[in-house]
Amino acid sequence: MCGIVGYTGKDQAAPILLDGLQKLEYRGYDSAGLAVRDGKALAEVVKATGKLYHLADKTDQGRALKGNCGIGHTRWATHGDPSTVNAHPHVSGNCTGSGSGKVESDVAGVHNGIIENFAELKEKLLRHGYAFYSDTDTEVVVKLVDYYYKKYKIGPVDAITRTMVRVRGSYALALMFKDYPDEIFAARKDSPLIIGTAEDASFLASDVPAILKYTRSVYYIDNLQVARVSPGQVKFYDLNGDEVTLNQTEITWDAAAAEKGGFEHFMLKEIHEQPAAVRDTLNSLVKNGKIDLAETGLTDDMIRSLTQIDIVACGSAWHVGMAAQYVIEELAQLPVRVELASEFRYRNLPLSESTLVIVISQSGETADSLAALRVARERGAKTLAVVNVIGSTIAREADHVLYTLAGPEIAVATTKAYSAQLIAMDLLAVQMAFVRGTVSADAYAHDLEELSLIPEKIRRILEDKERLQWFASKIANAHDIFFIGRGLDYAISLEGSLKMKEISYIHSEAYAAGELKHGTISLIENNTLVIGVLTQSRLYEKTVSNMMECKSRGAYLMGLTTNGNFSVEDSVNFTVYIPKTDEHFVASLAVVPLQLLGYYTSVSRGLDVDKPRNLAKSVTVE
Ligand code: M6R
Repeated sequence: MCGIVGYTGKDQAAPILLDGLQKLEYRGYDSAGLAVRDGKALAEVVKATGKLYHLADKTDQGRALKGNCGIGHTRWATHGDPSTVNAHPHVSGNCTGSGSGKVESDVAGVHNGIIENFAELKEKLLRHGYAFYSDTDTEVVVKLVDYYYKKYKIGPVDAITRTMVRVRGSYALALMFKDYPDEIFAARKDSPLIIGTAEDASFLASDVPAILKYTRSVYYIDNLQVARVSPGQVKFYDLNGDEVTLNQTEITWDAAAAEKGGFEHFMLKEIHEQPAAVRDTLNSLVKNGKIDLAETGLTDDMIRSLTQIDIVACGSAWHVGMAAQYVIEELAQLPVRVELASEFRYRNLPLSESTLVIVISQSGETADSLAALRVARERGAKTLAVVNVIGSTIAREADHVLYTLAGPEIAVATTKAYSAQLIAMDLLAVQMAFVRGTVSADAYAHDLEELSLIPEKIRRILEDKERLQWFASKIANAHDIFFIGRGLDYAISLEGSLKMKEISYIHSEAYAAGELKHGTISLIENNTLVIGVLTQSRLYEKTVSNMMECKSRGAYLMGLTTNGNFSVEDSVNFTVYIPKTDEHFVASLAVVPLQLLGYYTSVSRGLDVDKPRNLAKSVTVE
């Protein structure tokens, strides 16, 4: 989704803004722009479609734009096509052509989110003599701020709060006013925005990596708050315009964590960071040989009172929920529903205080997951957020938070955050089982021992990548790939299939193996690749039979199984082995070769692995 940066300080703003935008590229975008003010004139605006280097070329890497205060934006189109004129920043005055050049407007702004009632607001502004040059909802909101600013002759903070009361939807806004040199004004509702301060400079950004190079002291501006940002200082206001105090947070991430560190792509680097991400998450929850949930605030009594678990998430995080469902049900013997957040939020599921709704989210900002969390709270359920980004909205709004310690994840295709979520959910399942008395002390100790060995086993899988690299080059021209499995193997297939399709653009589906005969098998032709996940001994033979049915119809087969199941080699064309572990926890291992397969297939096809088309890292609009 869109990325916002802002800078005000002693240095030239544009190169800093470009650098910040580059760190936000992972979020996905189709155009970009800068507005930098120099002295009294509000701003010079420069925009470009396509990759960020076009904007950098247009501005001589930012050097051509004079001025020490500015805002920048990468746009992921929602209202209006990805053109220069629709790119941000937008201005309150008129604009011709591409919207670039010196502007004489009173207000300029960038926006991440969606203004749902923009059409109605636009009508109102048209009636008051405003003209529009773009198709965006952002131009409407910038002009609405300008309208209140002039009509009531009030300061920027009041003009912004009046606007916030009128708009519906989600937004992170950064605005500059002609009459306020050196200052940037920001507002936020349901879209992420942080503000960092250093000695003589301040920074705004949609995410931490954009400012990490300059400061580690950040504020997480709250929903429905306004910030007034000047060099080295920031003040916050509520909707009434009254000043409020926010605590500053120190970011502990290593700046190198947001760099590629010698790997060709962030995705490959993050795949290799999985042993550490899993180990760190595990160590944060296991103390003195026991699982300790004290930091989440979940008590044993709360766990004992539960009658139902609902896991709500999107995409890969939903796949973690699918895997966790089998583990919680089997170990803790609690009924589990796994719901897509975008569906859950509009359903009328009965919830009670004995239901625990677990929202899983790497970013902690996914719009549907956030909305689902709010619905769950309104209906009286207890809520637990399993989140990677500290201070994110979902983390702040949930009753309980369990932080995964994967560090910053930049590649759009999640890998290490998925693995960290998975181990966190496995630990939760084991603890729930122990507290509820559904596993013995010996079984508990065995489970913990097995989980503690997972990081080293992932490391071993990563040592043996060459066969997968070779196989990926062989399948790089496939038209369709089917992933099949039963039980936990079905959950693993879902993630394997998503990893493949999102970065290789090869059509791929995951099916519960038993479902093939109910329709999908008619799609199998000569050489269609079918990947069977075969880690569950109880279901192994059944899935192998389903693979054989595909083979009889011409399919080319790959089997993914645990060391020791050598019989599969006789039946399939290509076999991948993973180390043995307790079958409940096998997803943590089985997913790794599938991530590598997706990665190498994308590389073989010469695609943009880290920034696949049309996708955004953090989906902050519905
Ligand atoms: O930040 P979240 O975990 O809430 O994001 C949810 C999905 O958008 C995300 O898992 C997505 O499916 C992955 N990037 C796919 O690799």
